[in-house]
Amino acid sequence: MMRVTQQIRAVVLLLIPTLMTACVTIPSGPANPPMRVDAGPLRAYALDGTYDAFAGSHGFMLVTFGGRLAAVSATCPHDRSTLRKAGDGLVCPKDGSTFESSGKRRDGPAKEPLLRYVMSLDSRGHVIVDTTRPLIQGLWGRTDAYLVVPR
Ligand code: FES
Repeated sequence: MMRVTQQIRAVVLLLIPTLMTACVTIPSGPANPPMRVDAGPLRAYALDGTYDAFAGSHGFMLVTFGGRLAAVSATCPHDRSTLRKAGDGLVCPKDGSTFESSGKRRDGPAKEPLLRYVMSLDSRGHVIVDTTRPLIQGLWGRTDAYLVVPR
């Protein structure tokens, strides 16, 4: 009986590393954890367009359109790949989902629009993006979901 127990124990010990590897999923999202990010002066985003300097490091893009600046997630909701700018929108390099730069879904396997993040201005006029506070599409009209861009 003791010998069988030792054999079972040996097999379990051999399988543990394999099971741990099989169960751990490392997301391919932003390199940094959610946080409040100083994105610099609001005036730097005065022109309409998509600014992707924080896409790889913090998982969002800043988008100016219609006199407003929004912080749009750069992480694909399908399988968490980092999106890229493409023409007037965003594209997922992994499976090809496309989005408007505002975050609305256009096409592809992703079924949801992108998240946006709560924004504010600090005392120096810098844009603060709070990636700990995501906003689903139904909340994009909230006053903390965008900043008015001075013209
Ligand atoms: S990960 Fe973006 S479409 Fe699949």
